[in-house]
Amino acid sequence: MAAKCLIITLDGPAGAGKSTVAQALAKRLGISYLDTGAMYRALTLKGLRAGIDLADENALAALARHTRIDFKEMPDGTLNVTLDGVDVSRQIRTLEVTNNTFYAARAPKIRKILVARQRQIGLRRSLVGDGRDLGTVVFPKADHKFYVDADFEERVQRRLRDLKGAHKTVDKARLRADMKERDRKDLSRSVGPLKKAKDAIVIDSSGLTVETTVDKIMRYLS
Ligand code: DC
Repeated sequence: MAAKCLIITLDGPAGAGKSTVAQALAKRLGISYLDTGAMYRALTLKGLRAGIDLADENALAALARHTRIDFKEMPDGTLNVTLDGVDVSRQIRTLEVTNNTFYAARAPKIRKILVARQRQIGLRRSLVGDGRDLGTVVFPKADHKFYVDADFEERVQRRLRDLKGAHKTVDKARLRADMKERDRKDLSRSVGPLKKAKDAIVIDSSGLTVETTVDKIMRYLS
């Protein structure tokens, strides 16, 4: 019988450093990284391109049923996201996609499809997954659960740095307002809201580097 896969979940709000930390943690452990946010983003990108009304859950679900989202680990350790076989890693990070992903995220039919796909991936490989509902809904029996948070202002600064690093011009006041709104939507949706699992360990990454945050998490794994 195949050995059981090791599942580690990192949930938390946008900009708390989850994805960078999850990726670095997966690398240290030599296991896969699962970016669940990328799946909601990729489906949103497809919906925008197809010109469908994203608020129409049935139309979005019909699209989702004919969509293939995969992850490809690159030699440099980064994870590329493919949508129906085509790399969309950069295209899913635009402001337009970021600000429209809440339609897919709040739709129960979409969550059902994407959660099933995430569980399927977790059956085949050990992984560190990051998202909003991994410890509560997707992998309730995960081996280790973490809830990564940081001060709101620090989360804004991190996002600013990321966007500037990607040579994108951003208005700080607008970014702050967008992040407040995303938090509100993440916390208040009726299915799969951002929520700390009862058995998750809270990691406050305020003032910590990626490596120090990973060190902190590693101490709980032995
Ligand atoms: O982590 P991220 O910023 O890439 O997530 C993109 C969007 O997807 C965000 O609005 C929240 C949503 N999301 C979700 O609802 N459930 C997840 N497991 C991951 C992300």
